[in-house]
Amino acid sequence: MKPSLSFTLHPILFIILFTSQLTLASSDPACRTTCGSLPVKYPFGTGYGCGSPLFHPYITCTADTDHFILTTHTGSYPITSISYTTSTLIITPPLMSTCTTMQFSPNLGLDWASPFQLGPSTFILLSCPPPTSSLTIKGSPVCDPSSSHLCASIYTCPAVVTLGLPLFPPTNTCCVYSPANLNTKGELDLHGLDCAGYASVVSLGEYQTDPNGWVYGVALKYNHGGLDNYNTATTCGGCERSGGVCGYAPPGNSFVCVCKNFNTSSDCYSYTPYTQGVFWSSASPPARKVWLGLLAGLFFGIAA
Ligand SMILES: *[C@@H]1O[C@H](CO)[C@@H](O)[C@H](O)[C@H]1NC(C)=O
Repeated sequence: MKPSLSFTLHPILFIILFTSQLTLASSDPACRTTCGSLPVKYPFGTGYGCGSPLFHPYITCTADTDHFILTTHTGSYPITSISYTTSTLIITPPLMSTCTTMQFSPNLGLDWASPFQLGPSTFILLSCPPPTSSLTIKGSPVCDPSSSHLCASIYTCPAVVTLGLPLFPPTNTCCVYSPANLNTKGELDLHGLDCAGYASVVSLGEYQTDPNGWVYGVALKYNHGGLDNYNTATTCGGCERSGGVCGYAPPGNSFVCVCKNFNTSSDCYSYTPYTQGVFWSSASPPARKVWLGLLAGLFFGIAA
């Protein structure tokens, strides 16, 4: 009796194989190059395995609404723009005040372990205990008296009444905190200073005295996680120029260029598939099922 090496698969194994191949075909969409209207490039990514692994825990592209979100220990903040040339992004905290809407705000915080720090925007703390000239953090005065005209401007916004202030309130309840520092918990300590809210201004626009024309948002800087460690800069540039998306392969998080139909360690022009451990460790769970099924099929085929 000669061993049957032909794939006479057991019917059940055949079904397992067949269904797992179906799930493989409909597996996760590859890394995307946009989220909403924002172009997404390294080190940002639209999901697990995309962009830099250091950014992944903090950045999400919401599946339902297509919003790009930064999450920290104090909340989730929509990202409204990213400048890849200056490594700066702008977030708009939903509970921040603007000229049209003023509201009580919780502390704004960043995670120390994350690649994000405060960038060049101006915080205007609103409805603080007067006189704000005596507000201090660790003994140093907080408010910049040379910018108090910004307080006078923003206090012309009728929305100040929402914060319990009278119309045209005295400006000694307002504090321009710039550059701002985060406390040991990584937070802009609004509550420690006893201020009700804040507006953050990225740009004063054309007419500096018109707070309706200011661009509101919090500017953050990010540092290129991993770029120096992995010599990723050149490889990633080539990958993006070839239409690919830079990503990483867990568990080692080595660089992967995610192309339309394959992954490679260089760029999408050169088809050199990414193979390290592809048969098991870096294969997706459905792919593992396929390999398991094939192995089992082979085993039973020989045994039969
Ligand atoms: C390529 O890599 C991405 C991200 O690491 C992953 O989601 C995807 O499944 C991989 N695709 C292939 C064909 O291996």
